[in-house]
Amino acid sequence: MLDVYLPMMRCAAILCAGQLGLFQRLSRGEQTVAQLARGLRVDQASLTRLLAALRQAGYVQSSPSARWRNSQHTARWFTAAARVDYSAGLVWTAEAWTIMADLAEVVRRGRPERRLWDLLHDRPELGARFSDYMRAFAEHASPLIARHVVLPRHARHVLDIGGSHGLHSMTLCKKYPGLRATILDDAAALTCTLRLAKAHGLAGRIECQAGDCRTTPLPEELDAVLLYGVAHNHTAAENRRLFARIGKALRKKGQLIVHDYLPGAMPEDYRTLFDLTLLTEVGTRTYGLPEFQAWATAAGFGKLAVHHLDPKEMGTVLIGRRR
Ligand SMILES: C[S@@+](CC[C@H](N)C(=O)[O-])C[C@H]1O[C@@H](n2cnc3c(N)ncnc32)[C@H](O)[C@@H]1O
Repeated sequence: MLDVYLPMMRCAAILCAGQLGLFQRLSRGEQTVAQLARGLRVDQASLTRLLAALRQAGYVQSSPSARWRNSQHTARWFTAAARVDYSAGLVWTAEAWTIMADLAEVVRRGRPERRLWDLLHDRPELGARFSDYMRAFAEHASPLIARHVVLPRHARHVLDIGGSHGLHSMTLCKKYPGLRATILDDAAALTCTLRLAKAHGLAGRIECQAGDCRTTPLPEELDAVLLYGVAHNHTAAENRRLFARIGKALRKKGQLIVHDYLPGAMPEDYRTLFDLTLLTEVGTRTYGLPEFQAWATAAGFGKLAVHHLDPKEMGTVLIGRRR
């Protein structure tokens, strides 16, 4: 029983800290529990118990003078001072937890009652939380992916399907000064995109197009199409159709750049649990290289170049050129 109970409570404590903004507050400097309780506007006695659980989990530490601080691990991954701040991931995972509570029903039914995208659409605040989490991931992954992306110097227009926050396109726009990007996603995922573009000095080079890529007409004569973290949200038949439409939207020698999580290329425990997440949230699954290659070949692309990112948890980049 402890096998289930202890990880559940440890996880609950860490997510709670994320929701309260506890790690961010401690990143300003050591604090007593009374100072911390005042700053977070929470009950001091309850906070004391939460801190004890977080210390046990290795997320905070206390000095002999009863002052609390973040552990090195927390400071590195869950504060604004970190190079990549995954705080938004804690807030999102607290939401995902409530979605996972439906797992037994999903397994009985064989699919979720409502897809994640429908939930995000209904509750805009949820859409913003999910995009924030994806942005944190992208801040981490974007430089690793961009290293493998080589566009011609004259490249002008990239379409970022399911691009959400748009950070991946912004990285490319910085690398290629003549490039502009269209971010195609559901309106619920585009709430922060233009603000972020402005903050990156790219206002005017990033535009948003709200829509469903399965039905929205795609722009033409594109130099590149990004499909990052999107194929695993579709059925195989939908991907086959989408690849064919992307093939038509690209100019000759244009590139389709996919980032995804492939069975066999990522750690097996992560893959198994990610597949269970996809079943619960969207009713889909991960796809392997042979499936991606088959859709690409049918759509007029050559052999896909394959780049596994390091570490393996960061996924794989596949690049196809239109013949
Ligand atoms: C896992 S997130 C990835 C976000 C971003 N590409 C990245 O890598 O950080 C998947 C995104 O695809 C979008 N998406 C899923 N299905 C879509 C569809 N049919 N049409 C447009 N966007 C879609 C979601 O709204 C979400 O923003």
